[in-house]
Amino acid sequence: MAGLVRRFPDGFVWGAGTSSYQVEGAVHEDGRGASIWDTFAHTPGRVENDEHADVTADHYHRWAEDVALLGELAVDAYRFSIAWPRIQPDGRGAANPRGIAFYDRLVDALLEQGVQPCPTLYHWDLPQALEDAGGWLVRATVDGFAEYAAVCYDAFGDRVRTWFTVNEPWVASTLGYRLGIHAPGHRDLRESVVASHHLLLAHGAAVGAFRAAGKPGRIGIVLSQAPTYPATDSEADAAAAHGSDGYTNRWYLDPVLTAAYPADMLELWHRLVGPLDEIRDGDPAVIGTPSDFLGVNYYARRVIGAGRSDDGLPWRVMPADPAIPSTNTGWEITPTALFEQLVRLRADYGDLPMLITENGAVFFDQPNPDGRTHDAGRTAFIRDHLVAVHRAIETGVRVEGYFAWSLLDNFEWAEGFRSRFGLIHVDYPSGRRLVKDSGRAYAAMARANAVEEPAANGATDTGTPG
Ligand code: FCB
Repeated sequence: MAGLVRRFPDGFVWGAGTSSYQVEGAVHEDGRGASIWDTFAHTPGRVENDEHADVTADHYHRWAEDVALLGELAVDAYRFSIAWPRIQPDGRGAANPRGIAFYDRLVDALLEQGVQPCPTLYHWDLPQALEDAGGWLVRATVDGFAEYAAVCYDAFGDRVRTWFTVNEPWVASTLGYRLGIHAPGHRDLRESVVASHHLLLAHGAAVGAFRAAGKPGRIGIVLSQAPTYPATDSEADAAAAHGSDGYTNRWYLDPVLTAAYPADMLELWHRLVGPLDEIRDGDPAVIGTPSDFLGVNYYARRVIGAGRSDDGLPWRVMPADPAIPSTNTGWEITPTALFEQLVRLRADYGDLPMLITENGAVFFDQPNPDGRTHDAGRTAFIRDHLVAVHRAIETGVRVEGYFAWSLLDNFEWAEGFRSRFGLIHVDYPSGRRLVKDSGRAYAAMARANAVEEPAANGATDTGTPG
């Protein structure tokens, strides 16, 4: 049964992504300094089974093989991150030439392969030395980040044309500073707000440094998007959902895209954590330094009911609905929510270019003895989300590309190696790579610049709850 073939616009970018700490390993090599994730992962009890990414997918040694695999996947672009502690082992000062040399080799090999290098400057591996000096709680880290960004533009800006500043400041601040699940493992609501502000400021400062560097290309932030739905049609749930949307989405989108924090959130923070002197006059304008696109990471929606979190946030996150299909780690599969969020972003923030910078799913499938991994769930997940993206494009939303998360199975933060997101299976610790069925299917989609929507009832989404 042939379905509807949805062809993407010419020039639509097909990509795959990773991040430095999750895939590189080689944490002591070539002068790399320690990052907060080295410290955190080596603290007993922080990561499942006390796993750490000292070796992980060993991309630091296998980069050439991985570049060839990107070629096999037929992608146009690779989103990787630069490890700040490889470039500046102590977070400030002179660049480490061996750190620069690694990314030089990678960038050159990608270009030779015909794959656009698209680095993220900050994907959570803050140099430990900067953490020791206060981390994202102090403004000096923002200044340090702008200097580090300038070093990167100088080193790679002759070849890189797409830059990402900061990855998911909501996750970094919330899991790192409020919930204690990610590095540096703090649990303090006020700290999380301060960290979010400094991460946003770091983005703005890095955009400013990019303009000052005068390099060609485009730059933007990567925000996790949590399409938010009220649990019922009660007024109380609607208000709670609006608040939660302010927390996860608007607190980031508004300053980046309109140079102002949302008033309702400023009022909430004032009530819950007191005055925030860290947010100085003029900061929102810096955060709103015009950038070139918005990077959108999407995994799952959030359903919100009236209630209160332990630390006083006035809403309650509802558990996944068992009636809705889910990934192997229980995340609801709701591509329609991605469509609706993209449409909403255009309605609320205007006709901005967007890139889907992450989207993907955990399925535990392992290779058969013949080396094939039949991960049909992941293939369907990616296809259905690409259908959602295509539908958004049809309504006029400017989505210019899609990066599947992830190129490789890798170290999934607090979940360690259990959660596999890869289009390519990695055998730990041998490092052997095997392209999964989803990788082959993705390559076919990328080559065709199209996805085929299943004819009937094939989609896994049941739409948004009534
Ligand atoms: C995102 C992160 C990425 C990966 C995916 C699954 O929050 O940016 O590194 O862990 O989730």
